[in-house]
Amino acid sequence: DRPRILVSRAIFPEVLAQLAQHFDVESNQDDAAWSREEFVRRLQGKQGVLTTGSERVDAELLAACPALQICANMAVGYNNFDVPAMSAAGVLATNAPGVLTETTADMGFALLMAAARRVTEGEHFLRAGAWKRWSYDMLLGQDVHGSTLGIVGMGRIGQGIARRGAHGFGMKVIYHNRSRLPEADEQAVGARYVGLEELLRSADHVVLVLPYTPEAHHLINAERIALMKPGATLINIARGGLIDENALAAALQAGRIAAAGLDVFEGEPQVNPALLACRNVVLTPHIGSATGPTRMAMAQLAADNLIGFLTQGKPVTPLNADSVAHHG
Ligand code: GLV
Ligand code: GLV
Repeated sequence: DRPRILVSRAIFPEVLAQLAQHFDVESNQDDAAWSREEFVRRLQGKQGVLTTGSERVDAELLAACPALQICANMAVGYNNFDVPAMSAAGVLATNAPGVLTETTADMGFALLMAAARRVTEGEHFLRAGAWKRWSYDMLLGQDVHGSTLGIVGMGRIGQGIARRGAHGFGMKVIYHNRSRLPEADEQAVGARYVGLEELLRSADHVVLVLPYTPEAHHLINAERIALMKPGATLINIARGGLIDENALAAALQAGRIAAAGLDVFEGEPQVNPALLACRNVVLTPHIGSATGPTRMAMAQLAADNLIGFLTQGKPVTPLNADSVAHHG
């Protein structure tokens, strides 16, 4: 009997075709918006599921889906998974690390440049017909080259941003992370470890690229924003819940910091109206990994995890292999 899997959202047809060579596939190729109840109903009798990062997998869902053996997230972040609950249920979790590192680091720099140099604000100004003549102080921004870049979260993507800053823009790079990198790695990316408060006090540009966990909820709150330099920019390409958005909007409105660049939002796809009301914030719709080759590589890796695990017990990028082996 071929394993049965569910693909929760529309996906590259080539990848769907590969999955169909190994599995009986139910897919959502017309990309309908499934309620949680419908998702759980369609998961009945499925051994595997390809998720996209927004489907919540928790103890309640696992209890309702006893056939389930693997959830393959087509995202590097996996805050939609309750991994301990999955381990307890003997269900494998996989994510998609590595394949989106450089693409997402590019996006971090795109937002940093756009926010610091007021690129989208300038475009709105131009399109609104407000550009009448040159003036010496029109749309003055912040320098990126030679400034101090503070990176919070020094995983693969953080290191990609550090390399761009240190080697491409001559920036002084400082970082904060749960654990310090080995010295050779710090040298390779050109970054120095500091505490979070020192980072916020010293950086001209702060980039958030850490995983979203309960401990990191609203890591950047009013108190921490108050530590930042006037003229600083704040970039978030990780998860919206890392920032208290109302506190950030207040700081942007007051000109307490210069600008922000946000690709992720706490209630996305809803965006906090207080942020929408700020002119000095660049807003993009969670497109950090959105290039054709990278999205294809992410889908392929999720598919390879399903195929590897369900046909040979060999996932490519497991998050909780030990617990699952133990239960199996
Ligand atoms: C996207 O946000 C991802 O985690 O891959
Ligand atoms: C993701 O690739 C990360 O570890 O930052």
